[in-house]
Amino acid sequence: MARGRQSRKQQILSGIGARSIVLIGMMGCGKSAIGKMLAKTLNLEFKDADTEIEIAAGRSVPEIFEEYGEPEFRRLEARVIERLLDEGPFVLALGGGAFLNAETREMISQKGFSVWLKVDLETLLERVMRKPGKRPLLSKGNPKEIMQDLLEAREPVYANADLHVASKGGRKSDMRNHLVQCLAGHFQHTKAESAQ
Ligand code: S3P
Repeated sequence: MARGRQSRKQQILSGIGARSIVLIGMMGCGKSAIGKMLAKTLNLEFKDADTEIEIAAGRSVPEIFEEYGEPEFRRLEARVIERLLDEGPFVLALGGGAFLNAETREMISQKGFSVWLKVDLETLLERVMRKPGKRPLLSKGNPKEIMQDLLEAREPVYANADLHVASKGGRKSDMRNHLVQCLAGHFQHTKAESAQ
């Protein structure tokens, strides 16, 4: 491994300590795909909250919405994330709505380091439309309008994340590299500040 990348990895690992890196952001921003790559780079385990919810419920996310409704999905989501935060450190990808829960945010601030993957609406839409049945929230009307409304409502909450990483889409490996650079830069900065 190149020396620069190795020292960035060390910087991130010593910066997060026992905390999980928690990826947040809208549906389609790449939390799972980029999260898996980041975990590999850092030799951490990757966990996807939606997958863990599906295992716990024995049903897919669309089936949970269909059979029990969104409020029950949100309760299950909060419980599963609480457990995952206790079991880490992981690279943990959350569903797009999870960070809206104030108690979940509080737990993440104690046991995690949150990173908002900030992606523009056009890119998000193009990605979510590739898998139309996967996101129950988008099947209730015009996906573009729904995504626009969700984005407006959620951005101020996502902005509470510890780190914001913007991306215009493009190759996943470029996004992973950018994320690694931003994380290492953040912890380098934090360390320099605390040493003063
Ligand atoms: C949701 C996002 C989904 C999933 C559920 C609700 C949301 O996860 O948790 O459909 O509220 O934005 P992804 O962000 O991984 O698509």
